[in-house]
Amino acid sequence: MDPIREVYTVLAPFASCNGVQMTVTPLQSDTFGSFDGGKIKCVLTNLIGNAIKFTPRGGEIGISVDADDLELKISISDTGEGIPEAYVTRIFNEFYHLKSAKGSLKKGSGLGLAVSKRIIDAHNGRIWVESSEDRGTTFSFAIPLTR
Ligand SMILES: Nc1ncnc2c1ncn2[C@@H]1O[C@H](COP(=O)(O)OP(=O)(O)OP(=O)(O)O)[C@@H](O)[C@H]1O
Ligand SMILES: [Mg+2]
Repeated sequence: MDPIREVYTVLAPFASCNGVQMTVTPLQSDTFGSFDGGKIKCVLTNLIGNAIKFTPRGGEIGISVDADDLELKISISDTGEGIPEAYVTRIFNEFYHLKSAKGSLKKGSGLGLAVSKRIIDAHNGRIWVESSEDRGTTFSFAIPLTR
């Protein structure tokens, strides 16, 4: 099964419980097997889980998938509270989290992004974030495909 759809199927009920609309573009089946699905599921679970955790009711999450001959790129965009620019460079550090705009610290160990970065590094890939405090956050990663 498409690992992206698999994670989506598991997490969609949590998004819906939180009043957040989530959409995904399908992955072409000829891409499966060109990457380590188990590890990628781990990264996706954290990134989509974060998007659900940090997006208030009425918000939206979009998962987009793009593959060419060389690499698979996945982006997870949310309309959540965003990450202030000053923190963006620290966000992939272990145990790091910031206080949400509402002043409440959302529960989490602060390890998800650090582990995700290690997994992507181990695949010779790249992971990055673009965020703005009023428009939300997009996390993206790209990994080379071995065909
Ligand atoms: N989509 C997002 N929108 C806003 N802030 C985010 C988002 N994703 C991550 N963050 C911020 O980055 C911090 C680190 O994220 P990370 O996934 O590493 O840890 P966590 O979710 O707090 O805990 P864990 O993933 O270990 O359960 C979060 O605590 C939060 O402050
Ligand atoms: Mg997390």
